[in-house]
Amino acid sequence: MIHINLVRKTKKMTESKNKFYVTTPIYYVTAKPHLGSLYSTLIADVAKRWNQLQGKKTFFVTGTDEHGQKVAQAAEKAGKDPQEFVDSFIPAYKDMWQKYDIVYDNFIRTTDTYHVKAVQQWIKDLQKSGDIYKSFYKGWYCTPCETFVTETESEKKDGSFLCPSCNRPTKEVAEETYFFKLSAYQDKLLKFYKENPNFIVPKERAKEVINFVKGGLKDLSISRTTVDWGVAFPDDKKHVAYVWADALNNYITAVGYGQKGKEQEFNMWWPADLHVLGKDIVRFHAIYWPAFLMASNLPLPKQLLVHGWIKVDQKKMSKSLGNAVDPQVLLDAYGAEPVRYYLLRQMSITQDGDFSIIDLEQRIASDLANDLGNLLNRMTSLAAKNNVIEVVAPKVWAEDAIDLRDESLNLIEDYATYMSDYTFHMALARVWKFINQVNAYFHGQEPWKIAKIDKNGFIQILSATCHSLYTIAHLLWPVMPKKMEELLKSLGVTFTLKNNTIDTLEFGKWQTTFMLHKIEPLFEKPEERTKDMSEARQTEKAVDYIKIDDFAKVHLIVGTIEQCEKLEGSDKLLKLQVNCGDYGVRQILSGIKKHYSAQDLLNKQGVFVVNLKPRKMMGIESQGMMLFVEGENDTLPFVTVSGLVSNGSRLR
Ligand code: ME8
Ligand code: MG
Repeated sequence: MIHINLVRKTKKMTESKNKFYVTTPIYYVTAKPHLGSLYSTLIADVAKRWNQLQGKKTFFVTGTDEHGQKVAQAAEKAGKDPQEFVDSFIPAYKDMWQKYDIVYDNFIRTTDTYHVKAVQQWIKDLQKSGDIYKSFYKGWYCTPCETFVTETESEKKDGSFLCPSCNRPTKEVAEETYFFKLSAYQDKLLKFYKENPNFIVPKERAKEVINFVKGGLKDLSISRTTVDWGVAFPDDKKHVAYVWADALNNYITAVGYGQKGKEQEFNMWWPADLHVLGKDIVRFHAIYWPAFLMASNLPLPKQLLVHGWIKVDQKKMSKSLGNAVDPQVLLDAYGAEPVRYYLLRQMSITQDGDFSIIDLEQRIASDLANDLGNLLNRMTSLAAKNNVIEVVAPKVWAEDAIDLRDESLNLIEDYATYMSDYTFHMALARVWKFINQVNAYFHGQEPWKIAKIDKNGFIQILSATCHSLYTIAHLLWPVMPKKMEELLKSLGVTFTLKNNTIDTLEFGKWQTTFMLHKIEPLFEKPEERTKDMSEARQTEKAVDYIKIDDFAKVHLIVGTIEQCEKLEGSDKLLKLQVNCGDYGVRQILSGIKKHYSAQDLLNKQGVFVVNLKPRKMMGIESQGMMLFVEGENDTLPFVTVSGLVSNGSRLR
């Protein structure tokens, strides 16, 4: 008998405490939740459920970031008092999470009194220790990102600096402020990153952070006098806390920090095991937050899981861009759990991914309805047709069934490894590989024939299939809890977290008796649904197709590179002088130094976009763009035409 001990096999389990505390970013409440906020919250929910399945005690915090200039401005625009404004969105968040089977333990709002008081205490403590001091700040501020922008990291345009993160113009601020002594933590942070190489997942993000810190940390302005919607400084009421200083602390206040009588709760949960966040807010979480905690002498979170962006039309889906997909529309059309599956299966967590209705429908039809749903359906229908309800495991298994059982154990091991790394798409792809093996087994055995000639043989095929589905349902439970509970019910198994932790299940035994119940198909194919999907499909069309007029807007021409040189001080850019015929000689900067020397491109014909808005890089104007393609083995071939063409000819 094979018994797999996952307690030993999963890396996560080596941690000392048998607990898992996971958080999401707390969202700015300037609009209803969208697919991006759903995505982060979903990841946290799945990570939590996976840890529950391993028998850990879990705590899951999500919530809303309600203070600051961005929210205050949105409230003003809506003609509402800020508190009334933020209050109005809370039901929409809670309701959406509930509909998507997201089960949190605390929904924190930064306007909650317990949080405000704890932040004020935190300020007092750091003032006492000298980590917070009063001075004067002059610089630039990006309200949509709620971030201070330094002149060195950004580009100047029309008298203002552009935010390096969102590219929008920033506003100059000059005011008395309290600073946090961030500069004092530079070395400690670098030492921490070095000693904790898994602090940031994925590793590429860690490199960016480390380089940034190595570049030198300035003290951080953490109060504003020109904003009044925020946590008031305890002894200097004209200052309110900078919104990030307020918001980051939610991760500790949500589990009792700074609250009398909650010390035990706090010690139980803190440090967080995982902060889930998008790549837009890495700096705040990987630099400011650990420094704040160091100043407070608190342990640092174990890990940051930094995911990519869901994009629409190649742009980040966001409240401020107004291109957000409403999770409610998807819910009405497809149901919550297929959408959960799609988001985790389709997106590679650390990369950006395009949202697509076509892919979503494809996943539902093929993976869920066909591969998994039909397997269950065919098996239970065939059993019913032959009057089999009770499926008892055989004493001796045939070889094919033993192979399948061994495969199911390999699956569990691989799945656990992927899940511990939070590579959900890999974990799910691995489950589907097994589902296809089960389908092949079921078909290959031709049970509809065996049923007529060998009753025990028939039951054995059913039993092997039931055992396989039993494993599958448990592994998929974190992603589709309700559907998998339904699936298990149709096998006569009631799922409870108490009884069904993964290490008590002994998946390898294959000695369970299943009682079959026929249920409604688990998943419906999208085209069979009666609900009107036209709205969502229309969004898709708008995303996937452009009109010929749209294409014509881009002036693509052929030009010859007449001069090419390195740009002093840049390790990326080459400066080209391109003869573009009627479009003149254009100066074009291109970030291709890694792939080309200046000589390589001389006198070559390439394809250029000549009506891109000119843009300055390192103080030099670029008047167009040369086209390249990502080639194999990290090469970057340039686009050219197959015959000699006069300069300035349009591509049509
Ligand atoms: O930054 N794709 O709040 P926020 C994937 N209040 N994830 C996305 C996304 C997209 N297109 N758009 C948003 C804030 N997100 C601060 C956080 S935490 C102490 C304070 C997700 O409302 C992603 O997790 O702008 C991103 O980091 C977060 O929402 C930003 O939400
Ligand atoms: Mg944002």
